Amino acid sequence: MYFPSDDSIFLSDIVNQYHGQLALEVGTSSGIILKELSKNFRIAIGTDLDLNSLIHSQSILKNDNLICCDAASALHNVMFDLIVTNPPYLPNNPNHVDKTIDGGPSGIEVSIHILTSALDKLTKAGKILIVVSSLSNKKKLERFIVENNLVMKQIAKKNLFYESLEIMEISRKIKQ
Ligand SMILES: C[S@@+](CC[C@H](N)C(=O)[O-])C[C@H]1O[C@@H](n2cnc3c(N)ncnc32)[C@H](O)[C@@H]1O
Repeated sequence: MYFPSDDSIFLSDIVNQYHGQLALEVGTSSGIILKELSKNFRIAIGTDLDLNSLIHSQSILKNDNLICCDAASALHNVMFDLIVTNPPYLPNNPNHVDKTIDGGPSGIEVSIHILTSALDKLTKAGKILIVVSSLSNKKKLERFIVENNLVMKQIAKKNLFYESLEIMEISRKIKQ
């Protein structure tokens, strides 16, 4: 289980500004962000690979919309107004595997995997919020955005002593 940290609080403060019908959080773990989403969305669903952390958050949140699966893979025929994720974003540590923090060889691969899984569950006007670290390969993410006809803008930035974190908002490019 991932215990709420600076990144969790950073994202949970931002999701408060969004409202709608359906929201999805990928990588829910403790549920700190899902709890905030539940305040402004009619239905908030959380997914995580780690069943134990979902069982823990279910007992605290009393939210039954928790699914143990990879990214958004278990969700079909449902479209979300907002999809949020604080993904594992550190470059893999070759000596120790930790799926809560290891984001792939350059730190961004798991983020791109999550976005790929979530994209076809986003409404036309929907938004994705994702935490991106200065320690991961942002250029690779920017390429993914262009290749998928998306737009990405920075919503907030936080400097920590060892890295900086950005919250990026991703949406579909509006056709002219
Ligand atoms: C950095 S933690 C964030 C936890 C929590 N949302 C927070 O902000 O405190 C990342 C979470 O994503 C989960 N995760 C990693 N890869 C995943 C995947 N492919 N699908 C779903 N969840 C994943 C991990 O198990 C972990 O709970």
